[in-house]
Amino acid sequence: MRNDRTKGPGRPERRERSAGRAGQTPDAARRPSSATPANEPAPVRRDSVEEIARENRRDRPAVEWPEGLRPRFAAPVILEVEPGPDYALLDSGDGEKLERYGPLVIRRPENQAIWPRRLAPSRWDGADAIFTGDTDEEGAGRWRFPREALGETWPMREDGLSYLGRFTSFRHVGVFPEQTVHWRFMTEAIARERAQSGRPVRVLNLFGYTGLASLLAARAGAEVTHVDASKRAIGWARENAELAGLVDRPIRWICEDAVRYAEREARRGSTYDIILLDPPKFGRGPKGEVWQLFEDLPHLLVLMRRLLSDRPLALVLTAYSIRSSFYSLAALMGEAMRGSGGTVESGELVIREEGEDARHLSTSLFSRWVSA
Ligand SMILES: C[S@@+](CC[C@H](N)C(=O)[O-])C[C@H]1O[C@@H](n2cnc3c(N)ncnc32)[C@H](O)[C@@H]1O
Repeated sequence: MRNDRTKGPGRPERRERSAGRAGQTPDAARRPSSATPANEPAPVRRDSVEEIARENRRDRPAVEWPEGLRPRFAAPVILEVEPGPDYALLDSGDGEKLERYGPLVIRRPENQAIWPRRLAPSRWDGADAIFTGDTDEEGAGRWRFPREALGETWPMREDGLSYLGRFTSFRHVGVFPEQTVHWRFMTEAIARERAQSGRPVRVLNLFGYTGLASLLAARAGAEVTHVDASKRAIGWARENAELAGLVDRPIRWICEDAVRYAEREARRGSTYDIILLDPPKFGRGPKGEVWQLFEDLPHLLVLMRRLLSDRPLALVLTAYSIRSSFYSLAALMGEAMRGSGGTVESGELVIREEGEDARHLSTSLFSRWVSA
């Protein structure tokens, strides 16, 4: 499974570490900073990422797996994103993809696209923005704008909600379009529950990034808790909330390590009706905490089970991981949700190309427990 979001293996290659910014991928954390001038003291040797991770987990109790029957299983479930007015995959091939994000056509690397292209070279060359990746610095410098110079952001919409697309140095654009299938599923569940029971629906969005899921949930009438380790990502999410006219909605913006936050919420006895979690393969908390998908996910998922309310609606997990299969996510979800009835649906998120003879671009694996 290709991973557009976490680049390179999640293991450290050097014993020294630059502290690494919160939310950062291992490549970014490992990227050498400018050389230390000769007259400055050599950097203090710090623990390696593995040592920090071990230290973080040292006092963690063994995972308490729930008992009872496993939920029903439904797999494979392929959730497909179709071309639409806000987003379309126009073409893919030869290691790249050509997409339309609102008003802009964007060309980026895509190593899943190992097939030939369908569209003429002129369509590809006419893109508004091309990710070049040819500098190793933060910012929009890794993009080329052949038609006219563009700023870092541009106006976008998702299901009528306004937000900002953004050229980031990691080739991301501030939104992962395949997530729209989860967002629609979630907003429908919120609307149904509110219509049927009238009770407030509480949503927890862990690893919330630029906040679209949080904003769509809030617009659907939910009370939302949005957690991300990166101050910058929280800033972008709040900017999006302003643009969407949703600043007065009940959204708590929390800049914290996802596992630490979940542990605290579990101690406090907080509960949620819907939980979304979209963890990277590797990430950093604001206090240097280390997140490693395969090592930390079992602990986090069982914590999520404890955070589900007594009338839960869904627990949605997506993984952009190269070493996994949806069967692994399904098996883990099944264990975490033993004794709770419902169904575990698992499969892939794919995006369908626009036009005739369209192909599917696979983006990620998912597993979701649904109360029904
Ligand atoms: C893959 S993105 C999530 C994308 C989002 N769900 C969406 O579809 O728009 C991963 C996010 O996790 C955050 N992150 C990384 N490590 C974290 C940690 N230890 N705790 C909390 N958030 C973390 C990053 O800052 C980033 O915003």
